[in-house]
Amino acid sequence: MLEEIIRRREEAKLQGEPILRDKSFELLLSVIEKRQPKSILEIGVNLGLSGIAMLLKLKKASLSGIEIDEEKAKLAKENYKFFGVEERAKIFLGDAGEIIPILSGKYDFIFLDGPKGHYYEFVQNLIPLLNKGGVLFADNVLFRGYVDGRVKTPRRFNTTKHSMENFLEYITTKDNLKTEIHDLEDGVSITEKLYE
Ligand SMILES: C[S@@+](CC[C@H](N)C(=O)[O-])C[C@H]1O[C@@H](n2cnc3c(N)ncnc32)[C@H](O)[C@@H]1O
Repeated sequence: MLEEIIRRREEAKLQGEPILRDKSFELLLSVIEKRQPKSILEIGVNLGLSGIAMLLKLKKASLSGIEIDEEKAKLAKENYKFFGVEERAKIFLGDAGEIIPILSGKYDFIFLDGPKGHYYEFVQNLIPLLNKGGVLFADNVLFRGYVDGRVKTPRRFNTTKHSMENFLEYITTKDNLKTEIHDLEDGVSITEKLYE
């Protein structure tokens, strides 16, 4: 089954879909295998391939995803069915900025992979949704090399870059959070919530 996910990921890349990069995908799977979360929230589902891969590794876990694009959400649901995880995966269709604040569940693992300019806004509502010991895994946190200054930021990306810097400051300075930043592909952060 995982080979079929990898095949579909290759196909999606060729079609220009913004799916999680290879090494970050491997890191995601290694973290969930180690942590064994039971409840997962994914912000930005796209075709659902990362979510399915996680569910295939974790036979008892369930996944809630948030996706703004109706067509992508439809394709992701078809993929959930194809891989036989549809009983354990659901999608909230809409803007994560509106949906996150009204979520009431608690999660062991949150995969943040939605609109890059909104991570700082989102994180403040996401941390309270994490169980103690839960993990927030965020992709693109070094945002094309703009965040650490390796690449000069084009003016049109200044706002997104600032939001990402605020996000990184938040997850690295709050006392109840322990964060590792991985300089891998577009940058991944892994944050554990130590206490409420
Ligand atoms: C990088 S892709 C997600 C890839 C997916 N997590 C994976 O690992 O294959 C980002 C997704 O976020 C969705 N998105 C963008 N803005 C959003 C928003 N405001 N709310 C919810 N989803 C959003 C896009 O439609 C896109 O499908």
